[in-house]
Amino acid sequence: MRGLLDSARPALVIAVMVWSWTVPATSQQATVVGTVHNLSVTGPGEVRSFVETEVCKFCHIPHSVDTPVPLWGHALSQARYEVPDLRFSGSPVPAPQPDGASRLCLSCHDGTVALGDVTGEARVIPMRGGDRLAPGRPGYIGTDLSGSHPVSFVVPDGVTLGGDPESDMVLRPLAAIESDQDVRLDAAGKMQCTTCHDPHADRYYSPGRVPRFWVKPTVEEVCLTCHALR
Ligand code: HEC
Ligand code: HEC
Ligand code: HEC
Ligand code: HEC
Repeated sequence: MRGLLDSARPALVIAVMVWSWTVPATSQQATVVGTVHNLSVTGPGEVRSFVETEVCKFCHIPHSVDTPVPLWGHALSQARYEVPDLRFSGSPVPAPQPDGASRLCLSCHDGTVALGDVTGEARVIPMRGGDRLAPGRPGYIGTDLSGSHPVSFVVPDGVTLGGDPESDMVLRPLAAIESDQDVRLDAAGKMQCTTCHDPHADRYYSPGRVPRFWVKPTVEEVCLTCHALR
């Protein structure tokens, strides 16, 4: 995510939404399997288990008919994060510490917790390609999020970003943001990692152009769901 704020500003050009696609929860099995989030022995990435065959268990406790939505099954990080400032309320205030789905992502991506540290296992599942995400790996984010887009804050309605007369960006009305099928806020109205990335599906990845697990075909379409040029 580093460089996102600097590099993407000129890229905020109005793009025509060419494609929208929503996926029912039942197809998660099929979609996760082909992605680098399949950390089982069948995974396509460098980082995967030597022997474990279950795909979902690296993130979820295996579910039953009684609990159709799998519970979180990966050990959480205890890290305290450097966060960017929020500026929409006038004077800058630090963004909240990551919570909700963002905290789940960071349980692997901040690099402090073993990837195979999952609930219900007698010991940590050993992994090829490294037991935890280490600096230098593509997925390593670390605990300094200060150069990244803020997350875990409630997206406000009807504000001009920054109050900065030089800024060329405004925020679209909340109703317009919430009507989007792909760019989603959580139940508390917060922006999370899952607003821009879908951990279950990597449909649009294009090296150097579209990040992995992206929720729309282009970067701009995601930004422009919430931002507009003045
Ligand atoms: C505003 C949209 C947005 C949000 C929110 C977001 N990302 Fe990203 N992410 C991106 C973009 C765009 C890239 C492509 C790389 C870049 O621009 O630096 C990226 C890249 C990444 C990468 C690849 C490694 C890297 O640093 O380039 C990882 C891993 C990642 N994001 C995880 C996360 C996690 C975890 C969170 C929540 C803490 C998160 N992202 C929140 C937009 C977002
Ligand atoms: C790399 C981690 C990861 C893996 C692997 C994973 N999930 Fe998830 N899953 C998540 C996260 C994170 C959430 C929470 C999403 C949110 O709150 O928006 C979630 C939420 C869900 C939900 C709740 C509905 C939703 O989409 O938010 C279902 C159902 C689900 N996962 C099914 C599965 C199944 C089935 C598998 C295995 C085929 C799987 N997941 C594998 C990370 C993962
Ligand atoms: C169980 C651990 C785990 C969890 C939880 C997890 N990831 Fe990952 N993720 C990985 C691994 C392992 C990779 C592959 C990293 C590599 O090859 O360096 C990866 C890769 C990625 C990449 C691609 C990095 C790149 O540029 O190659 C992104 C983006 C990403 N994850 C985002 C997320 C987001 C967003 C969430 C939460 C919704 C999340 N992940 C939750 C383990 C996890
Ligand atoms: C879910 C809505 C949403 C999405 C999607 C989103 N943003 Fe934001 N963004 C916001 C909000 C709200 C703020 C205000 C946070 C603050 O006060 O700094 C913000 C702040 C920013 C800022 C700082 C602006 C300033 O003047 O302080 C930049 C730069 C930015 N976003 C770029 C992007 C880019 C690039 C993307 C796409 C990769 C993106 N955003 C996607 C909602 C979003």
